[in-house]
Amino acid sequence: MTVIAVTGKGGTGKTILSALLTHFISQTTSKVLAVDADPDSNLPDALGVAELVEKTLGEVRETFQVSRDEMGTANKEQWLEGRIYGEAICECDNYDLIVMGRPEGEGCYCYANSLLRGVLRKLMRHYEYIIIDSEAGLEHFSRKTIDSADYIVVVTDMSKKGLATAKRIKELSEELDLKFKDIFLVGNRITSKEAEETIRKFADEIGMKVLDFLPFDEKIAELDLKGEPVVNLPESSEYYQKARKIAEMFIELHAKSTTK
Ligand SMILES: Nc1ncnc2c1ncn2[C@@H]1O[C@H](COP(=O)(O)OP(=O)(O)OP(=O)(O)O)[C@@H](O)[C@H]1O
Ligand SMILES: [Mg+2]
Repeated sequence: MTVIAVTGKGGTGKTILSALLTHFISQTTSKVLAVDADPDSNLPDALGVAELVEKTLGEVRETFQVSRDEMGTANKEQWLEGRIYGEAICECDNYDLIVMGRPEGEGCYCYANSLLRGVLRKLMRHYEYIIIDSEAGLEHFSRKTIDSADYIVVVTDMSKKGLATAKRIKELSEELDLKFKDIFLVGNRITSKEAEETIRKFADEIGMKVLDFLPFDEKIAELDLKGEPVVNLPESSEYYQKARKIAEMFIELHAKSTTK
């Protein structure tokens, strides 16, 4: 199993890249789980499968929370597992998708969350690849919900804030001792060689590898405006080609890890 977590500052292009990684990787295996871990969910739209999403994981947790006391002797974990498989996992073209949804409401969710973690851990084992579109910032790291990511992909734009967030993520990932294999930086909406150089230099300084620089692509904006999924980008698009290369690199890394 290879877990890829896409993170970075808000609005840098995490969801678009996560959608394309899911798109390309799922062309090589059907054992792909895309995880929308952003409470402000939009990965299903980027993938063009929003209408297939029945319930979020958060909604299943809420139902569990209000009815768990009435479940009597019923096996609560089994109930939760059944609901997750039946309602929260959405079977798309050649991959599955799960939307985490909003964080828990008032009250103590420790019991629900601990059961949930167990069920998720079990569920994740069914997949070869798990691609997580994380929410902006560092929430997931501090809550340790992605402590099992193999690869962290930090997306940055040409802004100073984007780079500062990348640096903080790198530092925090070390502080929290997250056991990942590698952490990469991807520049997005990069329109000049100077910007590429600045980002590369910055990455060297903080000890991150630059995967690639993705261009600004008007087609992405067009699709977005029309409400069409980004996976409909034409093959001729440079962004599309470069995202495919990144996906291929992860496919190679995965193959290497499984032949060890
Ligand atoms: N390379 C690009 N060229 C043109 N537009 C882009 C590019 N990358 C992303 N966008 C646009 O920028 C916006 C933000 O992209 P996206 O939703 O992927 O970012 P995000 O990091 O997931 O944002 P959030 O933090 O809100 O979840 C979208 O409107 C998207 O269409
Ligand atoms: Mg997003």
